[in-house]
Amino acid sequence: MGNEESTPIDESVPPQTLTSRTLEGLAEYIKSGKASRIVVMTGAGISTSAGIPDFRSPETGLYANLARLNLPYAEAVFDISFFKENPEPFYTLAHELYPGKYRPTITHSFIRLLHDKGLLLKLFTQNIDCLEREAGVPDDKIVEAHGSFARQSCIECKQPYPEDDIKRHIAAKEIPRCHHCKGLVKPEIVFFGEQLPQAFFENRTLPMHSDLCIVMGTSLTVQPFASLPGATLEGTPRVLINKERVGGLGNSADDVLLLGDCDDGVKRLAEACGWLEELEKLWAETARIVRDEVQLARHETAKSKDEALEDEIDKLTKEVDETLNLSKWHKEKVRSEIMPRSANGAEDAASYGLRSGSRSHEDEKGNLGHVFVSEASKETQPSSTKSVSDRKEDGE
Ligand code: APR
Repeated sequence: MGNEESTPIDESVPPQTLTSRTLEGLAEYIKSGKASRIVVMTGAGISTSAGIPDFRSPETGLYANLARLNLPYAEAVFDISFFKENPEPFYTLAHELYPGKYRPTITHSFIRLLHDKGLLLKLFTQNIDCLEREAGVPDDKIVEAHGSFARQSCIECKQPYPEDDIKRHIAAKEIPRCHHCKGLVKPEIVFFGEQLPQAFFENRTLPMHSDLCIVMGTSLTVQPFASLPGATLEGTPRVLINKERVGGLGNSADDVLLLGDCDDGVKRLAEACGWLEELEKLWAETARIVRDEVQLARHETAKSKDEALEDEIDKLTKEVDETLNLSKWHKEKVRSEIMPRSANGAEDAASYGLRSGSRSHEDEKGNLGHVFVSEASKETQPSSTKSVSDRKEDGE
C-alpha cells in the first residue's frame, strides 16, 4: 500500500547533518540541541492504537469497512457532493468517530512532550479526532489540515451550529439541520472537493524553517498535505515513524526510517533521548481525562437508566390501573346483569363463591378468573404485571 517513489538513498552516501541515519544518530542530533524547530506531520496511523481505524490499511482500514454504508466508492463518505445528496453515511461514521470516547495514544503524548520541551515549531495533522488537543498540544501549535470535529456550521448559510446540539444529534444518529435555514449541518472537516483551511496555506512553508521533520502514521496519499515533508531544505533530517515506507522518505541523505508501530517508535526515540519517564508520565495523565469524560458519559447513561426504571414503573402502574379499570368495568357488568340487587351484597356475593368483605371481587392475583373461568385465566400472569423484583430475577 505504501507509495515510496524510488529506492532509498544508497548506504554509501554519507549524511550531511546526522552522524548516522539511525535512531542513535537522530537522538544524538536532538540531544545536541540542534533540533529546536521541529515540524511533525501525522495521519490516522497515530490513532489506530486508540481504537480509531485508519483509512487505507487492508482489512482494518475504514475504507475497507464502509461497504455496509452502501457507498458508490469508499471515499464518497467524505465527498461534499455525495454528502449533499445523502448525509446518512457520514453521520453514521461520525457516531463512531466523534471525539470524547478515545484516549490519546503515547504518540500524541510524544508530540505534547516536544511542545513542553519548547522544541515543537508546528504539528500538521490530517486527523479529525482532536486527540492531539486531548493530549495537551496547544491550539496555536496545531494545523488541522483536513479540519476536525472542533467546530460545525450550516453548509448553506454558513451559520455556526451549537456544539451541544450536534453532539446530541450524532449520539442519536440523527441528521442535524440548521436552526436558521434548515440547511445541512457539517462539522468543519475538509471533504474531498472542499478547500483546505486557511491555516494550512499560511503555514505550509514552515517546514523550510525547521531543523527536524517527523512524519508519523500516514500514507502521504492525499495532496497537498503529502508535499509537506518535501518542503524541508536539503540537509534537514527527516524521520519516518510508520509501518511502511511512504512519500519518498528514505531518499535523502539525512532521512531516518523507523519502520514499525509508531507507539513503539516514539518510545524508542524518547528512551534514546532520555525522555522515556517524562513521556510515560504525560501519557498516564491522559487516562484521567478520558476516564472523567467516560464517567460523565456513563453517569449520563446511568441517570437515564434510573429514568428508564422510573418509566418502567410508571408503565407498570399504568398497566395495573388499566387492568383494575378493566376489572371494575367487568365487575359493574356482573353486578348489573347477573347478581340480583340486594341490601346485603355479602350474602349474595358468598352464594356466588366470592370472598365476602373483600375490597373488590378480584382474587389476590388481581384477575377475574373466578368470575369468567376460562382456560386462558388458568395461565400464568402476563409478563407486564410482573413486579420489578420478578423482572430483575428474570434478568429483564
Ligand atoms: N503505527 C505506525 N503506522 C501505522 C499504524 C501504527 N499503529 N497504523 C497504521 N499505520 C500506517 C499505515 O500503514 C499507513 O501507511 O499509517 C498510514 C495510514 O494511512 P491512511 O489510512 O491513508 O491514513 P492517512 O494517511 O491519515 O489518510 C490521509 O486520506 O481519506 C483521506 O481525509 C482522509 O486525512 C485522511 C487522508
